[in-house]
Amino acid sequence: MMKLQQMILGLSLFATSAFSQTPVYLDVNQPIEKRVEDALSRMTLKEKIGMIHAQSKFSSAGVARLGIPENWMSDGPHGIRQEVLWDEWNGAEWTNDSCIAFPALTCLSATWNPQMAALFGKSIGEEARYRNKNVLLGPGVNIYRTPLNGRNFEYFGEDPYLSSQMVVPYIKGVQSNGVASCVKHFVLNNQEKWRGHINVIVDDRALHEIYLAPFKAAVQKGGCWAIMGSYNQYKNQHCCHNQYTINQILKHDWGFDGVVISDWGGVHNTEQAIHNGLDMEFGSWTNGMTWGQSNAYDHYFLADPYLKLIQEGKEGTKDLNDKVRRVLRLVFRTNMAKERHFGSFGTEAHAMAGRTIAQEGIVLLQNNSLKNVGKILPVDLNQEKKILVVGENAVKRMTIGGGSSSLKAKYEVSPLAGIKALVGDKAEVTYVRGYQSPALAEQDKKGAEVPKDEKIDPAKLRAEAVAAAKGADVVLFIGGLNKDPYQDSEGQDRTTLDMPYEQNELISALAAANPKLAVIILSGNAVSMPWVKNVPAIVEAWYGGTEAGNAIASILFGEVNPSGKLPFTFPVKLQDNGAIALGAYPGDSINETYKEGIFVGYRWADKEKIQPLFAFGHGLSYTTFEYGKPMADKKSMTADGTITFTVSVKNTGSRKGKEVVQLYISDLKSSLPRPVKELKAFNKVELAPGEEKQVSLTINKDALSYYNDVKHEWVAEPGKFVALIGSSSRDIRGKVPFELK
Ligand code: GLC
Repeated sequence: MMKLQQMILGLSLFATSAFSQTPVYLDVNQPIEKRVEDALSRMTLKEKIGMIHAQSKFSSAGVARLGIPENWMSDGPHGIRQEVLWDEWNGAEWTNDSCIAFPALTCLSATWNPQMAALFGKSIGEEARYRNKNVLLGPGVNIYRTPLNGRNFEYFGEDPYLSSQMVVPYIKGVQSNGVASCVKHFVLNNQEKWRGHINVIVDDRALHEIYLAPFKAAVQKGGCWAIMGSYNQYKNQHCCHNQYTINQILKHDWGFDGVVISDWGGVHNTEQAIHNGLDMEFGSWTNGMTWGQSNAYDHYFLADPYLKLIQEGKEGTKDLNDKVRRVLRLVFRTNMAKERHFGSFGTEAHAMAGRTIAQEGIVLLQNNSLKNVGKILPVDLNQEKKILVVGENAVKRMTIGGGSSSLKAKYEVSPLAGIKALVGDKAEVTYVRGYQSPALAEQDKKGAEVPKDEKIDPAKLRAEAVAAAKGADVVLFIGGLNKDPYQDSEGQDRTTLDMPYEQNELISALAAANPKLAVIILSGNAVSMPWVKNVPAIVEAWYGGTEAGNAIASILFGEVNPSGKLPFTFPVKLQDNGAIALGAYPGDSINETYKEGIFVGYRWADKEKIQPLFAFGHGLSYTTFEYGKPMADKKSMTADGTITFTVSVKNTGSRKGKEVVQLYISDLKSSLPRPVKELKAFNKVELAPGEEKQVSLTINKDALSYYNDVKHEWVAEPGKFVALIGSSSRDIRGKVPFELK
């Protein structure tokens, strides 16, 4: 008897000890790479295949047997999209997924304040974490190449340095919540027209100096855990599986150890998907962008077709294991990380974060004094008692529409609501629509478009607004673009630089009826302003999200002093844009050659000596800033050293304000053509009235380098340079020559 008991005891002890030993992949104290290898070794072939492609619209399989959770992705860069049905685009109609809509990324970029990017990333990451999404499909960092790209509102503007500086803190903020930032769309997705296939031809200098730069920063400085391939092609390979951009540049040269996720429906070929660096396939249907049967996930290129090739011995498992390692790394960095965050959702804190970002991003473009009146902005409620608000954008919801960044927001304060809330009973606020956008055709049950048969009479709307303007003390026109197709929207590009719905005619008529007019533009793109000389005050207010109206009102009535700067150029006319002037947009429907090369945005305006309507980096304040003479801490720098420029900035006005001091570098003599100047540092400072601060800007040789496409490396050529320091790219307040030894 004793023997038997001893045996049973021994067995049970063995059993518990064997099983109580936590497997390495489940032991959060083990290094991630060990957990990855252990988990990989336990997975079957089918489990591996299941992990590298979608199982639903926005999720991919885990391994339930091993307790490895699914991966859940969510759009978008401005907020956490509502839950959609398993296999449909339309909403699941949950009642607990109304999010805080943060400002569009052009607004974030316009703050020129990396702390705002950190706040943005942290806040949106908390929302994603709470909603159990471990991959945020954002931010986008595609460069603003023309003012027509439908998705510019989702990106950081025309300059690679500004985009890089703003995207890094955003990524870190998101990922501090155990949520991966999936930076998109890698790469050269600079238009929506023919986005699914257009083959971009671009020289190596522009590729590296302009278009890759923000992605390189996202990977090497931001440490992003995921990258989304883009729909378009480069060197005739789709960028979701591209030997050059993914295998060579992203994974080999930059050392990216995260996951490459396809854009939805961006995969076109199993062989290329296997060998050209794609790690997870998501999409609408099986063969890319065309219709397919629903629930077709096993037919995806990286699903059964891949499994079959392996089972038939036509493919090994080396590539598969690399993909699965990357997905497991994503899992152990997020859902199975050592510290499991909880996030928070729809909170007052997030709403106030959005308001602060919007307030810091709104740009005061013009604020001329009127004879015998002075400046229109900020509106003085002690003087102005009859305030007229004109324009559909004063009331139109902007958190919906625009494509995949559309949101089901918990609430949205319109500009009119924000203005009324701030003014209260201090003045009378009246509203006229002034112009009207056609209601979007609805789809009937069978999906057919049912155009809304409404008669819009722009002349009548205009006459009504002009009549109302005559009797007002001050007129606030709120217009611009919107998220409708062919405006600021995914899937189509704009077809004109003008604002739609006869807004220009209306603004000119309002200016004639009442000179005390401020024009507030909501947009994610530049627009033409034929009336610019007749309108004393102009504001770019972007898409401000949930708290937009409160942010706009706080600026218009002076509670907050505007401090935003333009992240892209406002050209006078389309032909002032390089790509368009050279006929290099939108391409011939098959290929598109970026003929303007590195001369994008202000780089083109400087080269061609074109006067912009409003320059890159431009933005006014309700106070004024005086710059002293900039100095450098040395006359010449060595290749491994730095140089620091210091300039005193004084608030010479009567109210506190923030100024963005910008540093541009000009290479006086170079063996290859270079832009006249390039942004290489900036510093946003707050100054009380009368306060003066020494602002320092430090650079190293990276700021002097260009990409030598003969040597295929970054080169800083010794020689003479000039540092240009100013308040915008066209408002240079001082220059400091120096040398690179
Ligand atoms: C869309 C967009 C991408 C988005 C994805 C999922 O087509 O290009 O930005 O994240 O599909 O909606």
